[in-house]
Amino acid sequence: MYDVDTIRRDFPILERSVNGNRLVYLDNGASAQKPKAVIEAVTRSYSSEYANVHRGLHYLSNLATENYEAVRSVIQRFLGARHSHEILFTSGTTEGLNLVSYAWAARYMKPGDEIVLSVMEHHANIVPWHFLRERNGIVLRWVDISDDGELVPESVLEAVTPRTRLIAVTHMSNVLGTEVDVEAISAGARDLGVPVLVDGSQAAVHMPVDVTEIGCDFYAITGHKLYGPSASGALYVREDRLDEMWPFMGGGDMIREVRRDGITYNTPPHKFEAGTPPIVSMIGLGAALEYLEHLGMENVASHEATIRDYVLDQMEGLNWLDVQGRAANRGAIFSFTIAGAGHPHDISTIVDQKGIAVRAGHHCAQPLMERLGLTATCRASFGLYNTRDEVDRLVEALEICHDLLGN
Ligand code: ALA
Repeated sequence: MYDVDTIRRDFPILERSVNGNRLVYLDNGASAQKPKAVIEAVTRSYSSEYANVHRGLHYLSNLATENYEAVRSVIQRFLGARHSHEILFTSGTTEGLNLVSYAWAARYMKPGDEIVLSVMEHHANIVPWHFLRERNGIVLRWVDISDDGELVPESVLEAVTPRTRLIAVTHMSNVLGTEVDVEAISAGARDLGVPVLVDGSQAAVHMPVDVTEIGCDFYAITGHKLYGPSASGALYVREDRLDEMWPFMGGGDMIREVRRDGITYNTPPHKFEAGTPPIVSMIGLGAALEYLEHLGMENVASHEATIRDYVLDQMEGLNWLDVQGRAANRGAIFSFTIAGAGHPHDISTIVDQKGIAVRAGHHCAQPLMERLGLTATCRASFGLYNTRDEVDRLVEALEICHDLLGN
């Protein structure tokens, strides 16, 4: 039984007030708050179980290594990967996508080769490909969304040409909340012989993910959005792709042997993890994913679906609120503007006075903003601890914004 009031007590920060009001935290798309299980795992690690990993022969180093490496199987389970060595530890989705770009795409892509991506991507799934455009002469082929904010799998597959080497798409838009049918895209791409990379930074937070069922080649997640510490995350790489990849960063731990005249590399996943990693952050991520596992991602998804439907109902009644995106399948992420109300920054500043945290800006998705004909929106992104009461608080605050700023 999913009892949101009990769950909220796991998150100490939700008790605090902001600007004299109880905090309503609706900026989960940017970063989520942390449950006690994560805070305690991080504290325990630093207070009594800390040392460097993979290096020492002493007790604490072995203990830290065990705790750290145990997280790999937790992530493997969370993502439904077949093998734990398909899970590469990263600092988040941005590093994961750059890793694919430097270690895999840069190795194979020649001038004129193409990457297919949607206009709805986050900059993390755009800028690494622009690097390849600038440096390797590759071509970016953009796929449009529908006016409802849907990314139709057929339109992605229709953009594939004999020069396409990769399809790179989000699983859920960080701006519109649109869920993308990455399973259909992966199935179609497999028939065309094109690898698929999925940016799972938002989706993995809101719904169960199974990379084996999706059938993609790469899938990236971000720890701090998954209720874990910042500087933690993972990249799933399907086993057959691991051997095709160059190492990413060079340094300690990713080598087997270094001589004056040559070098041999460690086996995956360590081949892609150079230097001392964010040990405690990853241990904290393990605790976060175990916490989510305990709640059940199906239960999280169904709780958030009730919140999403309630938000849609409430916003429907506000004819001065322009909500972006109307996808049939969507997460509880809403971007909006208020007619005549000036810049979304003003809206977020006013609702902040009521203790409500939302994000305003282009949300690192400027090609999407251009498609929407906007420069910025306000965004309320909900998480597993949000309630209907908090939706009401947001709506009241937006009504105040409209009275003050709207026309
Ligand atoms: N990618 C994060 C967001 O959408 C930071 O807010």
